Amino acid sequence: MGAGRGEVSGGAAPGGRGDAPRGGAGGRDAALAGGDAAAAAGGPAAPRPGEGGDAAAAAGAARPGGGGDAAAFKAFEAAGWSERAGTYGALMARATALAIEPLLDAAGVGPGTAVLDVGCGPGALSAAAAARGARVTGVDLAEGMLAEARRRHPGITFRHADAEQLPFDAGAFDVALGAFIVNHLPDPERAAAELRRVARRTALAMWGPEAEVAILGLPAEAAKDLPANVPPGPDALRFTDAHELARLIDGTVTELRATLPVATLDELWDGVRGGTVRTAARLGAATPEGLAAARERLAALAEPYRTPEGYALPVTIRIAVSR
Ligand SMILES: C[S@@+](CC[C@H](N)C(=O)[O-])C[C@H]1O[C@@H](n2cnc3c(N)ncnc32)[C@H](O)[C@@H]1O
Repeated sequence: MGAGRGEVSGGAAPGGRGDAPRGGAGGRDAALAGGDAAAAAGGPAAPRPGEGGDAAAAAGAARPGGGGDAAAFKAFEAAGWSERAGTYGALMARATALAIEPLLDAAGVGPGTAVLDVGCGPGALSAAAAARGARVTGVDLAEGMLAEARRRHPGITFRHADAEQLPFDAGAFDVALGAFIVNHLPDPERAAAELRRVARRTALAMWGPEAEVAILGLPAEAAKDLPANVPPGPDALRFTDAHELARLIDGTVTELRATLPVATLDELWDGVRGGTVRTAARLGAATPEGLAAARERLAALAEPYRTPEGYALPVTIRIAVSR
């Protein structure tokens, strides 16, 4: 698994949406400042294709305030992630694990730091923070994920909570972490305000553009002709824009690039079905013919990434830290 980082100084973010500075060969970090990003990013995100785009196209209502559609989407997410708690580790958690140490470094997590891990999933980030000597609480909306986290990491406290309504006092933590969660929230601004309320510092990890995250982009492309079959929800691609991510927490964003080895097409296919919710729902509702066509398409799309050992899939991850 290759990874590369480097530093590019912040300042005015170039261009508009999607024009974040990029790493070159081997990868490097790009630093963006939230205010500049906000100025450069323009208006709200337009719905885009792929897992999130579909949801966004129908989204309208999963908006601030958390009305009926927001509640329905959260129930769908909680059920979907609970179902996948046992299979998430096969592929997706291997990719999200790439963010763990950079995120903890960026957030300044060390011995004695009081850490809240929001959307903790099976708890790998929480465990890594605890291994640094931090005092950690993990929260998640999915009971299945919480059960898996408690099973794997019995020494850590995991609680059921919604990122948009955290059951903690103001300033209860030094650091609030959110890894690969903001794309799942009907009201990410409300969640960001909650993270900032309960902690002095907020740090997020998020995917880069789908074109640079093959484990998400290829399956989304392969499934794009299947019926959406997901409740209205947030645009899953909004925060793949570095400017949007920076603006969400008024922070700075760095970027890291890596390569994820995947041995077989089955590993990729099963990993997506067992490690995503919205794309998996589309695949799960497809006819046998539709499913076979999507798999065939995935095989063709993955071909350029083939290596003698299987596939080497690029991953871009962004880390945002509040100022
Ligand atoms: C893609 S997984 C990320 C898990 C983990 N943070 C990681 O880096 O691998 C998204 C997680 O967010 C949780 N989640 C979704 N909506 C949530 C909400 N409103 N509040 C708290 N957790 C939520 C899901 O249950 C799931 O465990």
